Amino acid sequence: MINSKLPNVGTTIFTTMSQLAAETGALNLSQGFPDFNGPQGLLDAVGKHVASGHNQYAPMTGLPALRQQVAAKIARSYGATVSPDSEVTITPGATAAIFCAIQAVIRSGDEVIVFDPCYDSYEPSVELAGGRCVHVQLNLENFSLDFEKIQAALSARTRMIILNTPHNPTGALISRAELDLLAALIRDRDIYLVSDEVYEHLVFDGVPHVSVLAHEELYQRAFVVSSFGKTYHVTGWKTGYVVAPPALTVELRKVHQYVNFCGVTPLQYALADFMAEHPEHVEELPAFYQAKRDLFCDLLTPSRFSFTRVTGTYFQLVDYSAIRPDLDDVAMSLWMTREHGVATIPVSVFYQHPPQGQRLVRLCFAKREETLQQAAEKLCVI
Ligand SMILES: Cc1ncc(COP(=O)(O)O)c(C=O)c1O
Repeated sequence: MINSKLPNVGTTIFTTMSQLAAETGALNLSQGFPDFNGPQGLLDAVGKHVASGHNQYAPMTGLPALRQQVAAKIARSYGATVSPDSEVTITPGATAAIFCAIQAVIRSGDEVIVFDPCYDSYEPSVELAGGRCVHVQLNLENFSLDFEKIQAALSARTRMIILNTPHNPTGALISRAELDLLAALIRDRDIYLVSDEVYEHLVFDGVPHVSVLAHEELYQRAFVVSSFGKTYHVTGWKTGYVVAPPALTVELRKVHQYVNFCGVTPLQYALADFMAEHPEHVEELPAFYQAKRDLFCDLLTPSRFSFTRVTGTYFQLVDYSAIRPDLDDVAMSLWMTREHGVATIPVSVFYQHPPQGQRLVRLCFAKREETLQQAAEKLCVI
């Protein structure tokens, strides 16, 4: 019998639901990935770089040209100046970036505050570092930070807080005022931040994403993580980055060097080319995804699901209390997939203690128009 280091980890719900969608032929609105391709120029650039021989190890910290593009984009988007050499590190996906940041600073016995509903990779990464997650629920009505609960969760052992904005699965954004409150709360404490901002460019209705990169005080203790997969519609490329002050970057790179050493070389060349040639891509993303959100929500208006349009990410939460209040959300997701041909993700799996009576499932709208139309047709007759 193996004495598992992660006894509570099994196959994730994302894998389970995607498999079930494939087996049953259901439309897969469960796992978060687009059913359309990334920009053609980006795809062509990969082929060009593979053919021209950019196929050996990249520098450990990431291709200089790509780190420069990241720094330039940060300056344009947030008005923040970061050093491409000493503050930006390219990683094989945001998941690896988060893992390395946690391993770099968390020790046995440390506590890490995470907010429920919570992305699933954080807790196993903390546990492998010997730490323990302390789960704090977001406010139930609008998924904002609950500062009374955060204050109550802080202890002498708290070593890190993990933020996620725009937030998966709720689509909520953290405001500047919330970041200021958080800064005041931890000012005199030895606490690091991981700010998971993989959906940084997917924000709607003119509401800006407030990056920790633009918060001078918080940035001094932060690892800010993003993903080219989300921004360029290429989740399968698993290429991301971490931005952190130089001293933290040194520690992060010590881990990254032995977990991955480097990211995939031709992908980094292609991303660097495309970012240089198409800086407008990120500026166009909010309108691109807002149109999908609005199409999907307009089509769902006649359905019996109730919802508030999300402010960020490519996920829409819908409440099914008026349809099957008798089913918990896992049962509802399985029923919707098997009986109605639409695969979804139950929100309870993002909680340590799911709120009693919550009846929410998450639908991914990073899909072609016809997929959204077909899905909405099925959802409207449930
Ligand atoms: C909140 C959040 N963080 C991190 C990731 C992982 O990003 P990557 O695919 O670049 O590892 C995801 C992907 O779904 C996510 O939703």
